[in-house]
Amino acid sequence: MISPPPAPAWNRKHLLGLEDLSREEIVGILDTAESFSEVSRRSRKKVPALQGRVVFNLFFENSTRTRTSFSLSAKRLSADVQDFSASVSSLTKGETFIDTAKNIEAMGADVLVIRHPTPGAPHLLSNHVGASIINAGDGAHEHPTQGLLDLLTIRRAKGTIEGLTVGLIGDIGHSRVARSNIWGLLKLGAKVILCGPPTLVPRGFERLGCEVAHHLDEVLPRCDVVNALRIQIERQQRGLFPSLGEYSHFYGLTQDRLNKARPDLLVLAPGPINRGVELTPEVADGPRSAILDQVTNGLAVRMAVLYLVSGKGDAPST
Ligand code: NCD
Repeated sequence: MISPPPAPAWNRKHLLGLEDLSREEIVGILDTAESFSEVSRRSRKKVPALQGRVVFNLFFENSTRTRTSFSLSAKRLSADVQDFSASVSSLTKGETFIDTAKNIEAMGADVLVIRHPTPGAPHLLSNHVGASIINAGDGAHEHPTQGLLDLLTIRRAKGTIEGLTVGLIGDIGHSRVARSNIWGLLKLGAKVILCGPPTLVPRGFERLGCEVAHHLDEVLPRCDVVNALRIQIERQQRGLFPSLGEYSHFYGLTQDRLNKARPDLLVLAPGPINRGVELTPEVADGPRSAILDQVTNGLAVRMAVLYLVSGKGDAPST
């Protein structure tokens, strides 16, 4: 039995980003995820909540964690799940992105989970198809379920998000994870410090209420949580810092740096991690790292989101 979440009823059809959501809606998703995380701890990890519903994963960009996590979450809710890979589809024969989605919808898809290199692609699709759309990452814009699983991981470890100081380290400019983190953390009352080389941290973020900083050694002792973002080499048009070695010298999370931080500092990283660049193996595998908890919490968050966009906002009565 899953107890009903104390969340207000959810009445959105899509999850496109955290920018659009209210504090209450975000808390509602996190509370619903808490009730679903119990399912993941059972030996029989399945509930009939979305039996008969069809979920399609449309991934136009590479992904390991996110695609697998959405598939597994949908299966845990007893939905039928179909993966769609752009590289082996009729897109290579000239079919448009919207036509592809309409054809998939014609097969009875209720929810389309979409990852696309173009910012706004899921929003565009939401105007052309009747199915629910979940944004699984659109270019450097948003990655709302990653933001939500980061919030859940922080809330579980610290008991609250309000009043915490959270440092987002590294390639803020090219990171959709950073944008979703920023919206979610600010709405839930955290102080957000963005720290990285000036070429990777746009000052415009100050207008949203974030602090912008460039010296990790000065910032780290003030943080309750740090999120080490991957250097998004594939999105950088030109060299924005001299070398990965120099980047890790100034911004890499090392044990030496952690020794000067708060003893209860929580270390997050969205993955894939580059050991020795954003953080050393010692830190990634160390006691302050919550990297694998993030992956586990991702399942509960995605179950909650699939459940809520499917119009099941009142209470999981399974
Ligand atoms: C992130 C992504 O794809 O945006 N990874 C993920 O979803 N687990 C972060 C990244 O690629 O650096």
